[in-house]
Amino acid sequence: MRIGVLTGGGDCPGLNAVIRAVVRKGVEVYKHDFVGFRDGWKGPLEGVTMTLDVPAVRGILPRGGTILGSSRTNPIKVEGGVERIRDNLAASGVDALVAIGGEDTLGVATALAAEGLNVVGVPKTIDNDLGATDYTFGFDTAVQVAVDAIDRLHTTAESHHRALIVEVMGRHAGWIALHSGLAGGANVILIPERPFDIDQVCDYVKQRFEQHYAPILVVAEGATPAKGTMALQAGELDAFGHVRLGGIGQVLEREIEARTGYESRQTVLGHVQRGGTPTAYDRVLATRFGLHAIDAVHEGDSGVMVALQGTEIVRVPLSAATRELKLVPLERYAEAEVFFG
Ligand code: F6P
Repeated sequence: MRIGVLTGGGDCPGLNAVIRAVVRKGVEVYKHDFVGFRDGWKGPLEGVTMTLDVPAVRGILPRGGTILGSSRTNPIKVEGGVERIRDNLAASGVDALVAIGGEDTLGVATALAAEGLNVVGVPKTIDNDLGATDYTFGFDTAVQVAVDAIDRLHTTAESHHRALIVEVMGRHAGWIALHSGLAGGANVILIPERPFDIDQVCDYVKQRFEQHYAPILVVAEGATPAKGTMALQAGELDAFGHVRLGGIGQVLEREIEARTGYESRQTVLGHVQRGGTPTAYDRVLATRFGLHAIDAVHEGDSGVMVALQGTEIVRVPLSAATRELKLVPLERYAEAEVFFG
């Protein structure tokens, strides 16, 4: 069999570990051969490929990013996109595709599988917000990066008696904020699932200073104020219609300083959370996903995604991954609220 592999959407620590596992088991155990498609769905759409054999995946296990490149290209939005992909796969002699990606990439995979193409999905996102899998690789690394930053910010916040705001990724789901805030001992955690009340946030800030400590606030980029409390600017849209976020940290910096009189500063972690070497946990999860994905392809399965349920890797319909986002349940958020202020 000849199998195509692509990585789409935002990159994520552990992508290379998946690619390596797919290729190593596929070649060494099943005797299949591979073709790498460059830059997400742009590769099969435009027929841009690269060699993907065992030498190509040597040494990539600890490397961040993706050797295949990535993009947010949406072929469904391109006139004749599905047909072009079908023709390019046929021209490369590809029998099946392994698509490694998040909500958007797997949404396209779901549509292509419905059109009769052989596609197996591997869930990926640092946001950990895909349904049907308990965890996605990349999340643990992103949380660790944020916790390292929070640990460092505590000492400078104390020295300068400032409120420090750490803006982390998480467009729709606050998992990174919740976990890094809990692990880093944040005094306030703000997530998209629970619109915040700025007066309450300022009360927590004042309370913390009154105890002679400096507050650390962890805020997900998608966190929003409760309706009618504070105005926010709208951002641009990408090819999948997502708003380009960023800026809530800055808004909070200004509002907290103006409302409490305490000096406030923001740190936006941004893409630092996605770059660099994956944690051991993410390497293991990504490797197991890759091994199970190639098993699925070898067995002729299609329209499925590998997923972590408990400690087992299972197969679920691709559509289950994208049906609904896995948001932070409010009772999980309430656990963290005990430590606010
Ligand atoms: O979906 C992963 C993610 O890292 C989000 O947390 C973030 O909102 C988005 O990607 C940023 O994407 P871009 O790479 O386009 O800036």
